[in-house]
Amino acid sequence: MEVFRDIDSLGNYLSAHRCQGRSTGLVPTMGALHQGHLSLLSNALEENDIVICSVYVNPTQFNNAEDLENYPRQEAEDLRILEQNGCHAVFVPDDEIMYVEDPVIRIGFGDMEGIMEGEFRPGHFNGVAMVVAKLLNAVNPDRAYFGQKDLQQFLLIERMVKDLGFRTKLRCIPIYREETGLAMSSRNLRLSQEEKNRAVNIYKMLSRSAKMLESGERWEEVHKEGINFLRENGLEPEYFEAVSAQTLARQTNVFDKNRVALCVAAYVGKIRLIDNLILGGSL
Ligand code: PAF
Repeated sequence: MEVFRDIDSLGNYLSAHRCQGRSTGLVPTMGALHQGHLSLLSNALEENDIVICSVYVNPTQFNNAEDLENYPRQEAEDLRILEQNGCHAVFVPDDEIMYVEDPVIRIGFGDMEGIMEGEFRPGHFNGVAMVVAKLLNAVNPDRAYFGQKDLQQFLLIERMVKDLGFRTKLRCIPIYREETGLAMSSRNLRLSQEEKNRAVNIYKMLSRSAKMLESGERWEEVHKEGINFLRENGLEPEYFEAVSAQTLARQTNVFDKNRVALCVAAYVGKIRLIDNLILGGSL
């Protein structure tokens, strides 16, 4: 496996493969890799000749300095995992490479970021969009892979790719869950066993809510019950929304023709977790 720390040497490597007519897939990550990332990698390996993973903790997408500082970092272990799982190349830039200067442009998504992560993490999606645009420019992949766990992120990146005319096709890979139902996340590494036991109630709540909606219960009631369920199980909900899985518009009638996603963010102690469930399956 090749490891690149700057854009030019990565570019030379990729040009050599493109000259041979090989297709390329990009899996952008912030490291602290888990099974969820590996499922993105295995999808990428199936669909492309060459797969590049990026490992970069992007400072501009953190709206909380403590969260950035505490974000798990384990580069040597990540490289080992990627090599063991057949990744062809890794891009591990540092801040000087990714942000030669502080960007003056801002990327905004209007109403699509007025709720959920965009509402509670101001500036987050500007940072995500900025770094993803930089990665797409550096790699220019045929396909790029993102996880459904960050559904709003995926839909905004999809919109950016459309609006700015990037040639890359995007893939949204279903959420990878632990046996307990807990969605895999790098942040799970920071949970104690007792916190993990409480965290499983996030997916329980989503599944319960989906059943209630499917049996005809009104959203207002489902929302109230969901929030209560989380609180009763020692979690502090930040939001629980039913949105279109295309436009992110809030849905009150869940049997609308748009696909509806139930999305939640909740604190387990100091750790903030997100999860979602799309009624009727994945994207
Ligand atoms: O989903 C993530 O891990 C990050 O937001 C991403 C897409 C790698 C950008 O830093």
